[in-house]
Amino acid sequence: MGDRALAMGTFFFDERLIDDEQGRIDNEVNAFTPHDCADRSFVTSRLDVTCRCLMELDFMTNESQPSGPDLTSGVALTQFVDGKLLGHVGEEEVLLVQDGSEIFAIAAHCSHYHGPLNEGLMVGGTIRCPWHHACFDLRSGDAVRAPALAPLDCWQVEKRDNLVFVREKRVGLIQRGKPPTSAPEKIVIVGGGAAGFAAAEMLRRREFRGSIVMLSSDSSAPVDRPNLSKDYLAGSAPEDWVPLRPDSYYNEAGIELHLNSEVVSINARHVTTGKGDQVAFDRLLLATGAEPVRLSIPGADQPHVRTLRSLTDCRAIIDTSKTSPRALIIGASFIGLEVAAALRARDIEVHVVAPEKRPMERILGPDVGDFIRALHEEHGVIFHLEDTVTAINGQRATLKSGRTLDAGLVVAGIGVRPRLALAEKAGLVIDRGVQVNAFLETSATGIYAAGDIARWPDPHSGERIRVEHWVVAQRQGQTAAINMMGMREKFAAVPFFWSQHYDVPINYVGHAEQWDEIAIDGNIRARDCLLKYKRKGRVLAVASIFRDLASLQAEVQMEDEMIQSV
Ligand SMILES: Cc1cc2nc3c(=O)[nH]c(=O)nc-3n(C[C@H](O)[C@H](O)[C@H](O)COP(=O)(O)OP(=O)(O)OC[C@H]3O[C@@H](n4cnc5c(N)ncnc54)[C@H](O)[C@@H]3O)c2cc1C
Ligand code: FES
Repeated sequence: MGDRALAMGTFFFDERLIDDEQGRIDNEVNAFTPHDCADRSFVTSRLDVTCRCLMELDFMTNESQPSGPDLTSGVALTQFVDGKLLGHVGEEEVLLVQDGSEIFAIAAHCSHYHGPLNEGLMVGGTIRCPWHHACFDLRSGDAVRAPALAPLDCWQVEKRDNLVFVREKRVGLIQRGKPPTSAPEKIVIVGGGAAGFAAAEMLRRREFRGSIVMLSSDSSAPVDRPNLSKDYLAGSAPEDWVPLRPDSYYNEAGIELHLNSEVVSINARHVTTGKGDQVAFDRLLLATGAEPVRLSIPGADQPHVRTLRSLTDCRAIIDTSKTSPRALIIGASFIGLEVAAALRARDIEVHVVAPEKRPMERILGPDVGDFIRALHEEHGVIFHLEDTVTAINGQRATLKSGRTLDAGLVVAGIGVRPRLALAEKAGLVIDRGVQVNAFLETSATGIYAAGDIARWPDPHSGERIRVEHWVVAQRQGQTAAINMMGMREKFAAVPFFWSQHYDVPINYVGHAEQWDEIAIDGNIRARDCLLKYKRKGRVLAVASIFRDLASLQAEVQMEDEMIQSV
């Protein structure tokens, strides 16, 4: 069983904490688990220093010790288990990894949410994180796949007298190569979310020297959106954790970020914002994401009736929750139920009204649906399934069944719709999403699309699909960035998403809109299971609870199948 639900010491990325008083740090230390840690993959060594300082404080406050042997004193290869050995160098936890005849020493924790890499999977010179499938190059530490964006530290390794010694930290290992000479001068990104941010970050990582303008209709710089329905909403993560990067990052990286800038039209080689500004581009990335479906019932326009997409939405829900002892969630979707869990953590009475018989049955099947329902009920959530809300009059909601519920906060989680208006207006080919080719280019040369809006040819399912997953959006943003620079890289990642309910994470790899069989290995109620969604005997997708290694193995298997089918 993965131990992401357990506190294994703490880890901070926020440098502002460093100057704060010890008392505040104590409070923060006690409030966090490593899994609460958002990806603060700030590229600077300043951050490393900050992390180290904070970890030192953590060690001082909790008197915790780094795991395993002191790797500077030498360890024998016979101590390795499955090619890995967890130890430490000073107070830093370091993982030794044997890959063929080579041995690498890397930071033991993922730069996303601090996942334990010793529980990860080695694949062809890389290691994948068990929690959300980030992937790091063993030789350089480079974060080669989102959701991690920052590299891992690496150490020099020396083999002597059948012992392995870890020496000093290695620097300057990541060789990027130069962007092609044909790289454009001006790249414009519409959207400041997962895909847009990952694209901008990748452009600078790959040493793109031209201008990057990011136009976002959001009022805040790119945020860790998944956190908005989890730790931040639950009150267990402070707002400092929500931005993907501090505000200063954009200036330092030469990314011109314009907030509150809605792009309203695209012409031959420029976009126009709602304020009338025109921004010229050589290449354009559309990453406008999705928007929550709004309720269309009487009373849906009242201030206490909310949806959740942005940080502003989340702040509003938190504010309203402070004066509402009871909340009504409409919809038993991933977001709806994550919100339910987060509000329970705030001790608010939570009712969920949804038309389906079982939550999440359409995506995960009846058994997981029953489990999710029971899990939420154990935490006090009250379900009103096979029912809908027909009107909200003040704080009183009326249900189709005739029942009424009073709630000072209503959150509608009834699905999202891709934001396609801009692409449609520009005349791009639309097919229940913006149609893109394997290189994520739309029907217009030089205009790319990524994230929740993009429908792409998925090599694993053999179908054109569009999904709403954080990791997919980031990886598509990265691939689009590389292609906008003039390279040709196909987007071939197997889709992955995760969801978190209380201390139960659900991981999902692949894509199965329909299946004819679900093979269950393990015990769902015991929170130890792997489910295979099959059609005509072929595994289309795999969902798991605390079977992280098997989930990674399933991902690799799906990748192998894709290679064989090409
Ligand atoms: C609360 C919440 C929790 C989630 N949790 C998970 C999770 O646990 N796991 C998971 O896999 N997925 C999760 N998701 C889904 C995931 O966040 C999305 O799939 C992902 O953010 C999509 O990335 P994107 O870049 O396509 O869109 P977004 O991240 O939504 O970004 C779109 C951006 O485009 C901007 N924009 C839109 N139109 C315009 C315009 N015309 N001009 C300028 N800017 C524009 C928006 O303001 C926004 O900045 C969650 C989503 C939400 C809302
Ligand atoms: S903690 Fe490693 S990918 Fe999230």
